[in-house]
Amino acid sequence: MENVRMEKICFIIYVCSLFSILCCLDKVNCKTQSLDVIIKSDPEITQFYSLLEGCNICNYTLEYEPLTVFAPINAAFQKRNISQQDRENLAQYHLTNIPKKIEQLGVSYTSINTRLPGGAPIWITISRGKFHDSYYVNNARLLDNESNIVGIKTPSKGSPITQILHKIDEVLLPTRSPLSSATPVFNPNAWEFLENHESLIQGPHRVRNFRQRVQYFKKENIFRTEGGHTFFIPVDEGFANNRASMIDSYIIDGHVIPREVLFTTPTKKDHPFHTLANSDNVIRVVISFTQEQRENTVINYVKSHTLFADGKHPQGVVLAEIVKANIPVKNGVIHLIHKPLMIVDSTIKELLQDKNGGILNNFFNDINDFDPEGKLILRTIERSPDVTLFAPCNSALDNPIVNNIKRDKQKYLEILQMHVVVDNRLYVDTVMKGNEHKVFQAPTLIKGKNLYFNVVTLGGNRTMSVEGGGVNATVIQPDLAAKNGIIHVIDRVLGVPYSTVLEKLSTDPMLRDTFELGQMQQFNAQLNETNKKFTYFVPRNKAWQDAKVVMPSAIKKLFMYDYAYHAITTLQRHLVISDEVFTMERIKQMTRHREVNQTNRTNALEPPAVELPTLRGSLKIFVEERMDNTYVIHWEELEIPVFRPNVECTNGIIHVIDRPFLKKGDIRVSSASNTKPSILVFVLAIAFTKIIRF
Ligand SMILES: *[C@@H]1O[C@H](CO)[C@@H](O)[C@H](O)[C@H]1NC(C)=O
Ligand SMILES: *[C@@H]1O[C@H](CO)[C@@H](O)[C@H](O)[C@H]1NC(C)=O
Ligand SMILES: *[C@@H]1O[C@H](CO)[C@@H](O)[C@H](O)[C@H]1NC(C)=O
Ligand SMILES: *[C@@H]1O[C@H](CO)[C@@H](O)[C@H](O)[C@H]1NC(C)=O
Ligand SMILES: *[C@@H]1O[C@H](CO)[C@@H](O)[C@H](O)[C@H]1NC(C)=O
Ligand SMILES: *[C@@H]1O[C@H](CO)[C@@H](O)[C@H](O)[C@H]1NC(C)=O
Ligand SMILES: *[C@@H]1O[C@H](CO)[C@@H](O)[C@H](O)[C@H]1NC(C)=O
Ligand SMILES: *[C@@H]1O[C@H](CO)[C@@H](O)[C@H](O)[C@H]1NC(C)=O
Repeated sequence: MENVRMEKICFIIYVCSLFSILCCLDKVNCKTQSLDVIIKSDPEITQFYSLLEGCNICNYTLEYEPLTVFAPINAAFQKRNISQQDRENLAQYHLTNIPKKIEQLGVSYTSINTRLPGGAPIWITISRGKFHDSYYVNNARLLDNESNIVGIKTPSKGSPITQILHKIDEVLLPTRSPLSSATPVFNPNAWEFLENHESLIQGPHRVRNFRQRVQYFKKENIFRTEGGHTFFIPVDEGFANNRASMIDSYIIDGHVIPREVLFTTPTKKDHPFHTLANSDNVIRVVISFTQEQRENTVINYVKSHTLFADGKHPQGVVLAEIVKANIPVKNGVIHLIHKPLMIVDSTIKELLQDKNGGILNNFFNDINDFDPEGKLILRTIERSPDVTLFAPCNSALDNPIVNNIKRDKQKYLEILQMHVVVDNRLYVDTVMKGNEHKVFQAPTLIKGKNLYFNVVTLGGNRTMSVEGGGVNATVIQPDLAAKNGIIHVIDRVLGVPYSTVLEKLSTDPMLRDTFELGQMQQFNAQLNETNKKFTYFVPRNKAWQDAKVVMPSAIKKLFMYDYAYHAITTLQRHLVISDEVFTMERIKQMTRHREVNQTNRTNALEPPAVELPTLRGSLKIFVEERMDNTYVIHWEELEIPVFRPNVECTNGIIHVIDRPFLKKGDIRVSSASNTKPSILVFVLAIAFTKIIRF
């Protein structure tokens, strides 16, 4: 950029030397344009220029003093209403004493005094990026291709002065009382802000309750500490339910992030920052910022996460909307929030209803609209002391596929029930511990419909996903705490299939091996057809790995290109194409009918099998439901656990199974083993049975 600028200046010099008469007639100093001329002639910052013009002192400053100008572009003035009172001296809040190029602005949380009376500081944040860094003053971003503009003023006497211009995308607004007020406050620190909030906050918000609690616990000093900190102050409207009395010393600490000045735009979202409530053995609270996009507006939230809890302060996350963000003060920045952090005094139902916690409104309305069944769900949620609710966010519910399903009331009711787990608080931590040895799952309000969980840790980010009825949803707001349980906000509605069998296979890492096997000779292609109904028994990766232990070379060959024919014939046995889908429940039911009809069975010991029409003959299986509501498929001599039944897809259903249906002759390993195929199956059967019954 420096080079470009230099080139530009050189070009100007060059042009001017060619046309020196013209240039100098225009009284422009050819080598060194002065900053006031640059600002005046720039069509992008005319609004700012008119502010400058209205400021007599600024005229003098620009004429005679070194400085840095942060000039909001015209679009910035359109973004917010600037009252007449705001405009008073506003230009001076955009001027600082020392000319600084971007790279000289300092490090994050550096403050620079402005020329506003009282010298109120502005705060620098550097947001490190992969390719280039972004610089912010308060919440405004420096436009990188339009900053570092240097002007030189050559006064009639003395040495030339350097002046620097940076353009920014927001107007900077200082925190100060109206000039008309009896005891004007300039450049307050956070405590002075609390004391004088009536004159400092424009708009309806008041913060009396919180201030009183701070005084009661004599914690004024944490709001007076010099340096740069971030303060969250709940407004009076958030003090229903006698909440004020619940605010204690720890909770006040939990509203301050020390030594970080965090404005909403540059701050990394969902990144935890330590608060003053940060003790290893008593209580520890971190705070992060998060956002929701609603139509065209971005709503900022802040979350407190109580990691170590005691009897009075429950574990979990409390979410509060930021009602007024980015109020700069002498020792940092203040955000006004709609209710206090850390306090858990609402039930799950109340959290859902909370109109300020609007992130969940649609879900509540959907349940509530179902009379009487939905109300019954709500009553169940109210009564259980330990609910875990998976609540789809508003945009997940506002989706054409979901709207379509809503027409089938019974189906949609089941879907809603699938989002509720009772008598178990499934914090992300709980799921992580539970996942160490096996895949963690939990029953829902519908019998037989379990949820399955996974937590992936990537570069310090923990992401929990949940699968229900074939839909894999990501938890976007984990561990929201309520008195009687927790809510995880998810990005998709569970149980509403949105992908074809093929799409599911190709995206679920657990099914990758079967997917790859089916890529041979385009076996998979048919699975994307939407005019058919598939029932596909899909061995998961582990199933193939286990099979490999028993018959290493056969399985290895199966996955080799030369043996594609065998791969296809094997897969064909797993795939049923019919005009209906076969859920586990349905297969089991069919089995029962058979049982009745086959009273005169020849071999009473053999379980009565159901025959499903696969692409390769019929698949004779018998489905058994175990005490723990899991299913086992009996096939040939094998007992095959169903790892995940009834994964619904738009064109069928997948049953994830723990062993492949492999038969003699499926793979001709070599002429030697080919001679005794029946023994192979027999050995396999015994080995598998052993694995199952470990
Ligand atoms: C300051 O005011 C004088 C007189 O009105 C004007 O000529 C000059 O251009 C102004 N300077 C700036 C930087 O606006
Ligand atoms: C600006 O103020 C006017 C009148 O007070 C109001 O109608 C308008 O919505 C406001 N615009 C913004 C962006 O706040
Ligand atoms: C600066 O970048 C913005 C967007 O990246 C672009 O719209 C604008 O035209 C650029 N301005 C100049 C002077 O190159
Ligand atoms: C959901 O999908 C992701 C990525 O495809 C996967 O890592 C995760 O294990 C899946 N979650 C569940 C519960 O199956
Ligand atoms: C962690 O999460 C943040 C915010 O969601 C994201 O910007 C960042 O890329 C993630 N980091 C990794 C390593 O996935
Ligand atoms: C499957 O079909 C859908 C349209 O129904 C299409 O968008 C998608 O790309 C197809 N997927 C594959 C892997 O062919
Ligand atoms: C059992 O027998 C009844 C009457 O004979 C018949 O309607 C039904 O379809 C049979 N069920 C099966 C699964 O064959
Ligand atoms: C009973 O068994 C005989 C021969 O095994 C068979 O012919 C007959 O159809 C069976 N009856 C029923 C009701 O399935």
